[in-house]
Amino acid sequence: MSTPDEEAIAVVRRTLALCRAERDRPHSIAGDVQSQQAINQGWEPVDPDGEPMDLSILLEMKGPRIDFFDQQVITALDEGITQVVICGAGYDDRALRFRTAGVRFFDLDLPGVSADKKGRLATSGVDTSDLTLVPIDFRTDDVATALAASGHDGTKPTLFLAEHLFVFLDRASLVRLLEGLRSVASSGSRLAATLESHAGELDTATVIADFNKAFFGDITPMPSIYTREAFLDMFGSAGWEVEAPDVVSGVPHTETIDTEFVSAIA
Ligand SMILES: C[S@@+](CC[C@H](N)C(=O)[O-])C[C@H]1O[C@@H](n2cnc3c(N)ncnc32)[C@H](O)[C@@H]1O
Repeated sequence: MSTPDEEAIAVVRRTLALCRAERDRPHSIAGDVQSQQAINQGWEPVDPDGEPMDLSILLEMKGPRIDFFDQQVITALDEGITQVVICGAGYDDRALRFRTAGVRFFDLDLPGVSADKKGRLATSGVDTSDLTLVPIDFRTDDVATALAASGHDGTKPTLFLAEHLFVFLDRASLVRLLEGLRSVASSGSRLAATLESHAGELDTATVIADFNKAFFGDITPMPSIYTREAFLDMFGSAGWEVEAPDVVSGVPHTETIDTEFVSAIA
């Protein structure tokens, strides 16, 4: 039985996958250009009330974000990285779209999501031999242990991605995840992530409460919206060196919240 928070995340997760399929995106030579459509089988763009959703409006916001993460993968593959760990992968098709000989992809998500993605991929017949699905709950499980058990090699450089994940984690889980990833990030590894940030003059607790109330009523599926400085402190304390910390890039999320694109090195 899923909680209201989990149901809200499920709608966001599916909508993102549908947006991804609408975008003209790059792929590797051996990559699967139809993998997102294969994963999305049977879904229609509808909102939680069942009303049709106009994805073109959403894509204005999500498009640059999708492009940012695709580019991170392209750059890493060009640099010879052989491990890509996608945290909170949801129904993201990157592991298949950027399939490359000698590169292993790890998709980490909640057990129910991992199982459903596995079933969808099996039905579609897409080649998943380079993909390891890792069921995990970042609130309770240790990411370093889960990765080691899944065949990730902490002595080799890795690209870690976290697209629209951190906002769903409570602060303690987010800090633990940053530390856990850093503990298996050898030199040459990079972490790329989105952060939902608000201006320094606003009160964090009020921003979080107002945002969740406006979009989700009485539930709080998105508990981690902080100032950029607070996020950068968390990265730094966990041992991640944020690249170009003075350069802010991203897209507006709401009037008071931005979605920032950040990369950091180990
Ligand atoms: C908004 S979706 C983003 C999915 C994907 N990264 C994308 O951009 O399409 C957030 C993802 O994080 C996952 N997630 C949220 N909380 C999690 C947790 N505690 N442990 C593992 N995954 C979690 C959700 O299941 C969901 O797939």
